[in-house]
Amino acid sequence: MGLDLPNDDLIAGPLPETHLGCPFRADEARLHQGEQKAMLLTGASRGIGHATAKLFSEAGWRIISCARQPFDGARCPWDSGREDHVQVDLSDYQMLPRLIAQVKERLAGAPLHALVNNAGISPKTSDGDRLTSLTTSTETWMRVFHLNLVAPILLARGLFDELRAASGSIVNVTSIAGSRVHPFAGSAYATSKAALASLTREMAHDYAPYGVRVNAIAPGEIRTDMLSPDTEARLVPNIPLRRVGTPDEVAKVIFFLCSDAASYVTGAEVPINGGQHL
Ligand SMILES: NC(=O)c1ccc[n+]([C@@H]2O[C@H](COP(=O)([O-])OP(=O)(O)OC[C@H]3O[C@@H](n4cnc5c(N)ncnc54)[C@H](OP(=O)(O)O)[C@@H]3O)[C@@H](O)[C@H]2O)c1
Repeated sequence: MGLDLPNDDLIAGPLPETHLGCPFRADEARLHQGEQKAMLLTGASRGIGHATAKLFSEAGWRIISCARQPFDGARCPWDSGREDHVQVDLSDYQMLPRLIAQVKERLAGAPLHALVNNAGISPKTSDGDRLTSLTTSTETWMRVFHLNLVAPILLARGLFDELRAASGSIVNVTSIAGSRVHPFAGSAYATSKAALASLTREMAHDYAPYGVRVNAIAPGEIRTDMLSPDTEARLVPNIPLRRVGTPDEVAKVIFFLCSDAASYVTGAEVPINGGQHL
């Protein structure tokens, strides 16, 4: 059965050169030659996004970030953070054309090596309980799906030329809640993440002929503001590694997926959960 690729000529090129050096250090070599890679990272102000921005910045990448809050220079120690931060509510799809234009303006014709769709919300009741398919309001369904699913689609499509120019990489942040009912995550959140996992497969197929890889990471319980207060007590006994994860453990997998070390990886969803899915 054929893959029905849009333009098979695009993938008929020679195999990429085999590099014998450490793939994680390839960026350093580029940096010495004055080439800096650039990423757009949504939700860089806290949690997983913050750890990701720090790691990529330490590796010499330029971080273009966006979130609802203004840039906080005291907490976010990466270069040109203030100039490269866009304040935007990603759950309002009408704001996305302006965001895309602002990112293009900042890139000024330079390629975009990575798009990390990390910003997400997981609304709960005022008591911290899960919102079910019976109790989630229409407004909440729309807000969750616009942020967790629609924004990644529109950002990737809007920045397609820049990603293609870099043979770039897209990483969508899904969740363990996308594949099983979770004691704290609600129905809108879980189904938006399941849809984002499917979208990753669709995008991997559609973007591959243009040299852009698309993968997902599916965190389990990671210690950020998103965790419910009872998570550690209730869930850790059932996690094979017997602990929650840290944001930097997630950031390292995102880095791998955006690096030359993952040059033949596309359409994957990597679980980062201490074995919780087993
Ligand atoms: N922590 C976990 O255990 C866990 C598990 C599975 C999956 N995940 C996923 O990992 C990703 C990051 O989660 P996290 O735990 O690091 O979350 P977090 O600590 O709550 O941080 C969320 C980030 O997203 C930004 N954000 C939220 N709503 C936004 C909006 N409407 N527009 C623009 N930016 C927005 C926030 O900045 P502002 O508030 O300034 O907008 C913040 O930077 C999410 O997609 C989440 O679903 C987390």
